[in-house]
Amino acid sequence: MSSYSYGEDNMKVLVIGSGGREHALCSSFASSPKVTRLFCANGNAGIAEVAECVAIRPDDIAGLVDFAMTELIDLTFVGGETSLALGVVDEFEARGLRIIGPYRRAAELEASKAFAKDFMRRHSIPTAAYFNADSSDNAVMELESGRFGDASSPVVVKADGLAAGKGVVVAANRAEAIDAIRGMAGLVGGDAAEKIVLEECLFGKEVSILSFADGENFALMPVTRDHKRVGEGDTGPNTGGMGTITDGSLIDPLVLEAVVNSIIRPTLRGCIAEGFPFRGILFLGIMLTATGPKLLEYNVRFGDPETQAILVRLETDLVDICEAMLSGDASQAFSSISWRQGSSACVVLASQNYPSKPRTGDVISGIDLATRVPNVTIFHAGTARSTDASPEFITSGGRVLGVTATGDDLASAIRSTYQAASQISFAGMHFRRDIGR
Ligand code: AMP
Ligand code: GLY
Repeated sequence: MSSYSYGEDNMKVLVIGSGGREHALCSSFASSPKVTRLFCANGNAGIAEVAECVAIRPDDIAGLVDFAMTELIDLTFVGGETSLALGVVDEFEARGLRIIGPYRRAAELEASKAFAKDFMRRHSIPTAAYFNADSSDNAVMELESGRFGDASSPVVVKADGLAAGKGVVVAANRAEAIDAIRGMAGLVGGDAAEKIVLEECLFGKEVSILSFADGENFALMPVTRDHKRVGEGDTGPNTGGMGTITDGSLIDPLVLEAVVNSIIRPTLRGCIAEGFPFRGILFLGIMLTATGPKLLEYNVRFGDPETQAILVRLETDLVDICEAMLSGDASQAFSSISWRQGSSACVVLASQNYPSKPRTGDVISGIDLATRVPNVTIFHAGTARSTDASPEFITSGGRVLGVTATGDDLASAIRSTYQAASQISFAGMHFRRDIGR
């Protein structure tokens, strides 16, 4: 364990969000001896077991500020991109409140894919060739010009704005790409699709590389792999993520060094040079191509379900890491972050019809039994109580639970995860049986 310690005890902490990622964050904060009161806005039924849930939506920035002022919150941690893109960090700091997450300008790296691509080009960060179109007609014209290959070439079509994972279509050929362009506004809502980004299609394995950043310094977390498609063998539509693993074999150490030198360092330097130093969680979606690692996208927050698999391995007190990030120079704290050796896996149990129109209200059984499997933690995402006093959990969203386990190696983490998952059931439940395989 790290001996690094910073800040005061008796802290009041607020986490913003209501999914599995926020349950994992709340569990980490709840385990800190420095935290005496923990709040979560909005939270869910599982989070309510470790934190006091308050009904404030992530887009109600004024409501969040008021709550933090009234409750004298010492530290706020932002889970998702919605609040960040709306400038929650700028608003909190303007009132003297301490909060972890990037400022609104830095959050543009996730909120606008066109902005992110131009930023990558300005800072020579390896990524797919692209074109930012300011209308769907303009995007179709660009495709027809042949600069993205002939009519049979694959091409990737992305909505510029935030679209909760739905705004990307990997089209097999030009005709599919044109359909995707024409259908994008209907798929993600008009605002997010006002601009369209076209990208060269890259091939390779994907990894998610997350780090803590204080503006200048960074600390890598264990490298993860997400499983975005709903079906086994990576089939069916994209989801927010059906499962993740962390394991040393996901990336060669030399390739990781290339990611650090060609992507992470230039990104942090670029943010400083452009006047918005990045403090928060920097999440890179990377494609490991035959010509080296290339950046697919930035996220400016923890991933879901990456966080579940990452935080079960964190041995250092998360409060100490946050305090160090707020101090302006976290280099010493970053160098002493300690991770549990081995691997981890998280399998998402989803409700019927997820990701299209998930059915909710089904009674969940077996969580207690699953929790008894050694090395297993169950994180709630879309759960509620059938009534306030009910002992029963019911489903209330698409991704319901994240069954997560650590292990000395990947095989044992996966074995424990599926052993625990097999204890749980609800009508319409489905999950991928090939996470990490
Ligand atoms: P993004 O939200 O930009 O990470 O895209 C979501 C998913 O689409 C990624 O995880 C990839 O699987 C895929 N994708 C995005 N960009 C590309 C690309 N240029 N080439 C191939 N696949 C991509
Ligand atoms: N699991 C992908 C994400 O959080 O964006």
